[in-house]
Amino acid sequence: MAQMRASLRLVRTQAFRIVLVYVLLFAFSVSALLFFTYWNTRRTLDAQSDQIIEAEITGLNEQYQRLGIRGLAESVVSRSQHPGNALYILSDGAHNILAGNLDAWPSITSDPGNFVEFGYERSVNGLTEARRARGRLFPLRTPAGTFYLLVAEDVHDRDLTQRMFTTTLPWTVVLILVHGLLGGGLMSRNMLRRLDSINRTSSEIVAGNLTRRVPVSEAQDEFDVLAENLNRMLDRIERLMKGLREVTDSVAHDLRTPLNRLRQRLEQSQGRLQAAGSDTSEIERAIAETDQLIATFNALLLIAETDAGTARGTMVLLDLGSVAADVSELYEPLAEERNLTLKLVQPLGGGAIIEGNRSLVSQALANLVDNAIKYTPPGGRVTVRTLQDETGVSLSVADSGPGIPPEERPRVVERFVRLEASRNSPGTGLGLSLVAAVAHFHNAELVLDDNAPGLKATLRFPHPAARIALPQIPSRNAAE
Ligand SMILES: Nc1ncnc2c1ncn2[C@@H]1O[C@H](COP(=O)(O)OP(=O)(O)OP(=O)(O)O)[C@@H](O)[C@H]1O
Ligand SMILES: [Mg+2]
Repeated sequence: MAQMRASLRLVRTQAFRIVLVYVLLFAFSVSALLFFTYWNTRRTLDAQSDQIIEAEITGLNEQYQRLGIRGLAESVVSRSQHPGNALYILSDGAHNILAGNLDAWPSITSDPGNFVEFGYERSVNGLTEARRARGRLFPLRTPAGTFYLLVAEDVHDRDLTQRMFTTTLPWTVVLILVHGLLGGGLMSRNMLRRLDSINRTSSEIVAGNLTRRVPVSEAQDEFDVLAENLNRMLDRIERLMKGLREVTDSVAHDLRTPLNRLRQRLEQSQGRLQAAGSDTSEIERAIAETDQLIATFNALLLIAETDAGTARGTMVLLDLGSVAADVSELYEPLAEERNLTLKLVQPLGGGAIIEGNRSLVSQALANLVDNAIKYTPPGGRVTVRTLQDETGVSLSVADSGPGIPPEERPRVVERFVRLEASRNSPGTGLGLSLVAAVAHFHNAELVLDDNAPGLKATLRFPHPAARIALPQIPSRNAAE
């Protein structure tokens, strides 16, 4: 199966198609050339034997004119003694042979007078051989009755030449096709191998490993020039990314520390004011705002990190069932508080294993459960479900709340997007953005569906077999 897919890939390459067109054109030209040579040779050989026959006929005709039928018969007898390739027969009206070098009258169907071809048998060293001849037949009307004269040339050699052409032609075409297809296959395989190495490197880079480079061979051919250019481009992108990361890191660091300090100060003032018996509700609100700011910062940094694939080194084999159980347990009290039923549904035997980053997957699931609890009115249901089938492993959160209208679904995964309906609940609009980033990081898909009523958010991870086929990505930390 895999072999068939590989050969199908070869056949689909541009190189193979070019070779195929070339081979077909070449086979056509060679066939045309061979056919033309055959036709020309046959024409020349026919003209040659016709000329010989004409000369014989002229000689015999002279004899006949001068000496009558008897003289012709003597002439045929004497010529039959050293015939070379020539055949002579003189017969009476009933085709009884009077003279000549053929044992029996051959069966001739064409008009007398024109050139005719016929088969005859000849005995060579006691063996009878079927041969072909070409010649002319004349009826001779005399007072003694009608006689027939057949003068012909053996064309066995011409037939041999013809047979050589007719057997050579198909073999030549078959050989050209076989060699052409083999050559085309080899060329395409070579080309595919070079392209595959470029493709493999690109997918590793897309997956977040910016340190990878396209291998360059000694050959210095056009692929190497392409690889060198790509590598130069990658160097530049990596430098830019590094600069950007440094700026983001320092901004985050420089802002996060003062924010934490601000929070500390606020807490201290609150403590002091409380001790003095003053109203601290304003300060409490300020602390909440600061917490929100810090949370936004953390979420933004986590999304940026996930998008950049910097958490690559922490991939482990992960049981989605246990992640779902942990997160459900964590959110159970909150669900109860909001009078919601939180249910966990898992297949018997578990086994929903993926290769992933535990803290990122947990955070993504927590964001989905958090949304479900936040936006579902009291009395509703929230269901967390893991599922495994032949297409892959999935993790979904379904609720019975208001749901998201289909036209808004692509928009809500963007950063800071919150729908009008949820303006008065707390939030920054980064929750689903992180879920989408985590999905992308794991080559998974985030699908938002109608739960009629409510929202069903599903993270669909690729099938284990597909994941094994993914390029092996070295840990970023090890690469740096
Ligand atoms: N389960 C849901 N039911 C109804 N609407 C939802 C649901 N989940 C998300 N939404 C809508 O999508 C918007 C974006 O969700 P997202 O989780 O990104 O942000 P948020 O919940 O508003 O804020 P944050 O998660 O950052 O605290 C929400 O504001 C809400 O309008
Ligand atoms: Mg949210």
